[in-house]
Amino acid sequence: MAARTLLTAGITGVGMDFPERRLTNADLERMVETSDAWIVERTGIRERRLVEKGIPASRHGVEAARRALAHAGLEPKDVDLILVPTVTPDMMFPSTACVIQEQLGATNAWGYDISAACSGFVFAIQTARCQIETGANRCVLVIGTEIMSSIIDYEDRNTCVLFGDGAGAAVVQAVPAESKGILDMIGYIDGSGGRYLYMPGGGSLNPPTHATVDAKMHVVHQEGREVFKYAVKGMVGVTNEVLSRNGVTIDDVALFVPHQANIRIIDATRERLGLSPDQVVVTIDRFGNTTSASIPSALRVACDEGRLRRGDLIVLCSFGAGFTWGAALLRWTAD
Ligand code: ACO
Repeated sequence: MAARTLLTAGITGVGMDFPERRLTNADLERMVETSDAWIVERTGIRERRLVEKGIPASRHGVEAARRALAHAGLEPKDVDLILVPTVTPDMMFPSTACVIQEQLGATNAWGYDISAACSGFVFAIQTARCQIETGANRCVLVIGTEIMSSIIDYEDRNTCVLFGDGAGAAVVQAVPAESKGILDMIGYIDGSGGRYLYMPGGGSLNPPTHATVDAKMHVVHQEGREVFKYAVKGMVGVTNEVLSRNGVTIDDVALFVPHQANIRIIDATRERLGLSPDQVVVTIDRFGNTTSASIPSALRVACDEGRLRRGDLIVLCSFGAGFTWGAALLRWTAD
């Protein structure tokens, strides 16, 4: 009897797309009581990209997906499954995956959205990997796309300086077993963290009314200090766990790609893990926190900067609302 071929999943293409419009710290100084010095020192952010009012998450998601497919040398009709991690879908339903499927012309694909806030991309990568390893699907498009400006109160200095709009996408395909590809992923959620970062309005708990709008229930609320504390602990812990479970050390890691929420979270995580700055991708200065788009777009930036080579060991690591956090360990399988 012939031995069963083990399928391995790997990332074969990445793409990103951001709005042209820049919101600089100087612009924010004119909107709320803040300063460029405070924002840069406390967050590392210098500017973020914002859409013109009315542009939905699908718009940049479609373009990021096209670019990721081109990088992988594929056509939209080659896609079997579309996963869209997002906290800012075009609407409650149908899913943004459906909207993107039509606009992209991915006529052979099925798909759905995933809700895990800033961990959405890392969680979706695990779903893609499992779909491929079971043989259920061969080509999965994971598209993190966010219009964070649609859920931000630009009168709240605690949150409005942090977030930006944009999209990043990755193609995950069956790759030869010797390429190794996505090796492992560990994810966590802890619902007791929900009170520190949330948007209370718009769902079944607080359906939209004049009162919910007046009470600003349709925007992001965050207790930044609490989130900060848990973020560093969670990201360091889950990274160490995924490394030791696979018998590798931090020195074996060519590139650490963290969620981009705050430069101080990234630096504290890097120091505790014993990583050098050149092992870490940082894009927060130019894009701010783009939630589920931050890790796939950081991968695209790393590619453009020539920092990713086939076979490199990579860690993707996230922390976000929920709380949700996770780390994926993979060998780079794109050109
Ligand atoms: N400009 C000037 N002052 C400000 C601003 C601002 N934009 N924002 C807050 N402040 C003030 C506060 O009012 C406070 O003043 P007070 O001491 O008089 O009360 C002071 O600065 C310190 O505020 P902190 O909240 O303690 O500031 P901190 O150093 O913690 O930085 C920040 C705030 C940037 C939000 C940080 O806590 C952070 O990055 N937290 C984590 C964010 C994160 O990781 N989110 C998860 C992912 S997002 C997702 O899942 C959708």
